[in-house]
Amino acid sequence: MRVLFVTSEVFPLIKTGGLADVSGSLPLALQHLGIDVRILVPGYPAVLSQLSDLKPVATLNNLPVIEHAELMLGTIVETQIKVMVIKSAGLYERDGGPYSDVNGQEWLDNPARFGVLSKVAAILSSPQTPMNDWLPEIVHCNDWQTGLTPAYMKLVEQSHTKSIISIHNMAFQGCYPPEWLSTLALPHTSFTSEGYEYHGQLSFLKAGIVYADAITTVSPRYAHEIQTAAFGFGLEGLLSKRGNEIKGILNGIDTNEWNPETDPYLSKNYSATKLSGKQKVKTALLQELGLDIGASNAPLLGIVSRLTHQKGLDMLLPNMPRLLDIGCQFAILGSGERALEAAFQDLAERNPGRISITVGYNEPLSHRIMAGCDMFVMPSRFEPCGLNQMYGLAYGTPPIVNATGGLADSVTDTNAASIGNKTATGFVMNETSPEGLLTCIQRALDVFNRNEKNWRQIQKNGMAQNLSWDKSALEYLILYKNIVQ
Ligand code: ADP
Ligand code: GLC
Repeated sequence: MRVLFVTSEVFPLIKTGGLADVSGSLPLALQHLGIDVRILVPGYPAVLSQLSDLKPVATLNNLPVIEHAELMLGTIVETQIKVMVIKSAGLYERDGGPYSDVNGQEWLDNPARFGVLSKVAAILSSPQTPMNDWLPEIVHCNDWQTGLTPAYMKLVEQSHTKSIISIHNMAFQGCYPPEWLSTLALPHTSFTSEGYEYHGQLSFLKAGIVYADAITTVSPRYAHEIQTAAFGFGLEGLLSKRGNEIKGILNGIDTNEWNPETDPYLSKNYSATKLSGKQKVKTALLQELGLDIGASNAPLLGIVSRLTHQKGLDMLLPNMPRLLDIGCQFAILGSGERALEAAFQDLAERNPGRISITVGYNEPLSHRIMAGCDMFVMPSRFEPCGLNQMYGLAYGTPPIVNATGGLADSVTDTNAASIGNKTATGFVMNETSPEGLLTCIQRALDVFNRNEKNWRQIQKNGMAQNLSWDKSALEYLILYKNIVQ
């Protein structure tokens, strides 16, 4: 089976969040199941410079905005996955990230940049494809950036290929003024509430949801949540109409990239049976971050996150003075909303040696925080899946999470019963509030400080979980087969 996996970011080429991790690791797992998978991404500078054997394979014609572009084919060195790249200097070869410039301002022509990505995916699945030796049977779209693909496939390209849209985050929908319809050569006749119109705007994500042959979310719980007003961001009505067709498949993690036994970023590797190495990583991390080492028995709480409302870390801030009073230290890595960055920085300045905040994006440090901390804090208000809590499980760093989305699906709360039957893997909040978070952290500290045996058990339970893609990739394969029939 041939699958074209369309995405706006892919690890290790370009990453702003979990979508890149999934786009890097799911295709690999699918390939292991015998699927002939190719990724399609925009030709950002980081993509063009890192792929091996990159060569032009076709010219793409009749594109909106830019008319022509070159299609290239290359290979990701680390995984040998094939990647098709749209080379367009005008659209994609710029300094900055995939969605914004170096100052964090979104590119004004994002509808063009991702409209073209969507259009190319549709062309490659159509009878008019310039790559007729490789016609996909499935086009697997991801998030709003690829949402127009199913619409182009059905309404414009007369493609016979089936499409899937995976929803990684309902908070981002790609809504733009209706003038873009003409620019992107989309039929005006489908600019209705049954089509891609949403409150007078063109909605990329809605187009995907309406025209895809199947819809998935990145956790089972999120599949239900998005059908409610609290999590659907306005599309809950549409989603509940297609409710039976929405399948939640929990993300896996790349167990080669995220494995404490082999992680090259750690000063010492460790495993569930040799947890002593984790203590050494903690001491090295305290040193690296300039935190007090004398306090190496003090619980070290870790955070690696986008600093946005979604992630709920504003609920941690008011609790930090109290947590410092009872001996906690913090290792924080993140970037996002300036006010949150500043609030954490301010607290860190006032508590030298106790709180470290690194503002920015730092892959090696994210591994060391995951390994060196005693517990990982992730109180997200909503979390379609979340990968960091799974990295925490794999690294013996029990996660403290809110009861939502993939967090609820992947972490088992600690209580008498789950300790007894050895299923406890972390701590789950029972209320989305600063108080709820504090109570949850206190429960974790209680076990950590007073019951070493139970703490070790929780760590080992988490480390014993099969967090790989094995099971979930198989679920995608079954879904592909079902819709191709
Ligand atoms: P989301 O995609 O919503 O941000 P996930 O938990 O799915 O959340 O994935 C986040 C990914 O991005 C993880 O791989 C995490 O380690 C990484 N990450 C987030 N912020 C940073 C940062 N500041 N530095 C390094 N990695 C980060
Ligand atoms: C999004 C979600 C996150 C999920 C990731 C990968 O960024 O916010 O919860 O883990 O996509 O699916």
